[in-house]
Amino acid sequence: MTKTRIAVLVSGGGTNLQALIDAERSGKIPSGEIVLVISSQYGVRAIERAAAANIPCVVCNKKELGGEQKAFEEAICKALDRAGVEMIVLAGFMSILSEAFTRRYSNRIINVHPSLIPSFCGKGMYGLKVHEAALDYGVKVTGATVHLVNEIPDGGKILLQKAVDILPGDTAELLQRRVMEQAEWKLLPQAAEMLAAAMMNEKENIQ
Ligand code: GAR
Repeated sequence: MTKTRIAVLVSGGGTNLQALIDAERSGKIPSGEIVLVISSQYGVRAIERAAAANIPCVVCNKKELGGEQKAFEEAICKALDRAGVEMIVLAGFMSILSEAFTRRYSNRIINVHPSLIPSFCGKGMYGLKVHEAALDYGVKVTGATVHLVNEIPDGGKILLQKAVDILPGDTAELLQRRVMEQAEWKLLPQAAEMLAAAMMNEKENIQ
């Protein structure tokens, strides 16, 4: 039985990447193997995390590739094909992917978003901005969502969600950390295993 080959796409700190690496190493993703990390930015901590785990890492930087979405996605696809990637995990990846790209990997891309979708999501809602919006609105509960990725930003089928309390005196930074610790770092590896297992079964049924 061959494990599902996973690429993790990142843009920053890479704490979700780390959660995936740790989960894989401790046997919590038995159906998948992280074979590649792609970063959209140079000099980010996520690249160091990939190196420390001995996972090949490629940088695909849109600006460096001329600023066009098409060239950016072609570079990503080339790296994915070269590594034989079957499934993609967006872990703090801060670029929106086109319909052509999401169709190519239909039902094979998951994303973690730091709110309870459909609240505080969609275009322009990423990272700390999501937590600032939740605090500004005054909601008492937020959380994280892992969903399949389609052409609508944060619009694909929801796979897992977990609620997290907002506490008096919260700042966006404090809330971001709590949502990561209590929800994202648990949900993302869990959802990665769910999809990797489903894809492995699919391959077996075809054979
Ligand atoms: C995470 O909170 C992730 O949910 C969020 O960015 C952070 C990345 O942190 N992603 C989005 O907002 C995507 N819409 P990390 O680089 O430490 O994993």
